[in-house]
Amino acid sequence: MSIMKEENIFSKELIAFIEEWKEKPGNLIMVLHRVQEEFGFISRESADKVALMLDMPLATIYGVLSFYHFFKMVKPGEHNIQICLGTACYLKGGDALVDELTNLLGIELGGVTEDGKFSLEGVRCVGCCGLAPVISIGGEVFGKVTKDQLPGIISKYN
Ligand code: FES
Repeated sequence: MSIMKEENIFSKELIAFIEEWKEKPGNLIMVLHRVQEEFGFISRESADKVALMLDMPLATIYGVLSFYHFFKMVKPGEHNIQICLGTACYLKGGDALVDELTNLLGIELGGVTEDGKFSLEGVRCVGCCGLAPVISIGGEVFGKVTKDQLPGIISKYN
């Protein structure tokens, strides 16, 4: 018997949630949100399992996953760096932060470093435009960030 991957083990709560939503309209999005909440992303194994539990073709699930950018199909890094791509942040130099972070980490937006330590994610306005440009790492928000501050910020997480 093969060893189950961690990503494939649904908690009792998640299974109960899926059972509850099974017959309801719009259930797929709700279920996928809940899966992502539990694992931080939606693995192939999770998608397979959802397909089985909702009795839906896998292609339908991947259709939804690729349509909504909110869903992640790659496991995020230990520290997920979110860069705000909203208008206020853009106008205050957010694009320079994107350039610098992709340089420093050697990955593109949406990528994960080889050691799995960092991932880089572009997000919409995070609601603190007064602090633009903004990045957040694991929920910790950094405002009025300059590109020169980025190496120092990142080193805190190394
Ligand atoms: S645009 Fe970045 S916080 Fe609003």
